Amino acid sequence: MMNLMVMNEYLEDPAAANPDEVRKSVDPCTVVIFGASGDLTFRKLIPALYHLFSETQMPAPFRVVGFARREKSDDSWRAELKEGIHAFSRTKAVDEAQWAAFAANVHYCQGDIDDAQAYQRLAAQLSGFGDERLRRNLLFYLAISPTQFAAVVAHLADAKLLTKGQQDSFWQRVVVEKPFGQDLVSAQKLNGDLLRFVDERQIFRIDHYLGKETVQNILIFRFSNAIFEQLWSRQSVDHVQITVSENLGVGTRGGYYEEAGALRDMVQNHLLQVLSLVAMEPPAALEPESVRDEKVKLLKSIQPLRPADMLKQVVRGQYLAGEVDGQTRPGYRREPKVDPRSNVETYVALKLFIDNWRWSGVPFYLRTGKNLPLSASEVRVEFRPTPSVLFAAQLGTKLDANAITLRLQPNEGISLRFNGKIPGSTMRLRPVRMHFGYDSEFGAYTPEAYERLLLEAMAGEATLFIRRDEVETAWKIVDSIRRFWEGRPLTDREFYPAGFWGPIASDDLLAAAGHSWRNPQKT
Ligand code: BG6
Repeated sequence: MMNLMVMNEYLEDPAAANPDEVRKSVDPCTVVIFGASGDLTFRKLIPALYHLFSETQMPAPFRVVGFARREKSDDSWRAELKEGIHAFSRTKAVDEAQWAAFAANVHYCQGDIDDAQAYQRLAAQLSGFGDERLRRNLLFYLAISPTQFAAVVAHLADAKLLTKGQQDSFWQRVVVEKPFGQDLVSAQKLNGDLLRFVDERQIFRIDHYLGKETVQNILIFRFSNAIFEQLWSRQSVDHVQITVSENLGVGTRGGYYEEAGALRDMVQNHLLQVLSLVAMEPPAALEPESVRDEKVKLLKSIQPLRPADMLKQVVRGQYLAGEVDGQTRPGYRREPKVDPRSNVETYVALKLFIDNWRWSGVPFYLRTGKNLPLSASEVRVEFRPTPSVLFAAQLGTKLDANAITLRLQPNEGISLRFNGKIPGSTMRLRPVRMHFGYDSEFGAYTPEAYERLLLEAMAGEATLFIRRDEVETAWKIVDSIRRFWEGRPLTDREFYPAGFWGPIASDDLLAAAGHSWRNPQKT
């Protein structure tokens, strides 16, 4: 079941709603992190576990074991992690006593991922924890390259640390980071490799967007509010825009990005996940399988893009040198570890149609890019115009269409835009907004996505993780686009200067249907 709990007192006094009161029950367990020296561990995983601990959401007892190649002691690893906490914690300043209490549960296991002996050492270390639950309830977090996933699970199984399927009262689960493969074929192979050693129910594929509060709120907004769900279909919706923009370039990640590009890095996962939550049918229940069944159904209903549609429905772009926030930025081809003739896309815009009863004929525009004017993620649902009589007849296209914007980040919130009369003796209209802001409503409760995801994985709750068929269906969609681009160098119309909202071609994509992008605003 999704972790939804509405306390009675919330109903009586909505202002008293405090997410801290919602607790999951999590068995005592050990979290083993492969890739313990990596950035993800340092910046995200350890800070997330630390916050869960400070908020008394970690089970008691628990242990964290970092597994990596470099020689380190428990103490030297803890000292490094402490620096990470000071730099990346969402709560400043870090409480020294809390950190010390947390760090006492954190250990290091030195080993090479390909060395069977190292897994014996890990097993010996786990046995040293005494409590059987710490030895046998194990969450293996693979913060490593996907090419190493299969070897790690095979070694874990050999060392009898990982057992396939349901066992007595203990559990072992494997959390895997994106990218989950490079394309459909490699994702299928990876799935096949993992499934030799674990059941699908033991695999937790991460898409950190699903850990974001506002992304989870999409389903709550849609399915707990009668007023909006009534409007959520082709009868009322003109089109939908999903924007995930970033105001940074690829920075030091040029090597990875050359392999991924925006299509694999963002569209295959985050954007298609947001789309499926925005457009899916109501699930039969809040059980993980019901929710994920509906998401897969939605992805399968996306009208396949035929080669003839590509030029009309798909736009790619790459940033040139430019300026963002007053800073000059190099062009993508000048970034470290990037081929100076690279054709890799740093921007993608798509026009997708969903062939089902609810959405037939409604365009869904998706876009993402690096080095755009600002970092913001939002979903804008634009409603059909009013009939062309009365004010609409007078104002024509100047009459603003109603819209609901779900602002996923930053300044998380939801706005409803509609027309109002400007007070005065003449009949003048302008759009006005009703706005719900998370901050003003709920205060500064902004847990990091990884906190929620780690907690869910420890609790064995799979709703916020990607199922095998979901990941494979998403690859099918992006593979067709990738194939079309192969061997086609970027043309002049596909470049955009850093600091612009993408290439000109992305405006044409919408203009063809009389639409235009509504860019996120700095608020
Ligand atoms: C990651 C991508 O998955 O998501 C990055 O690999 C991107 O390229 C990041 O910057 C965006 O995440 P967020 O949470 O900052 O929107």
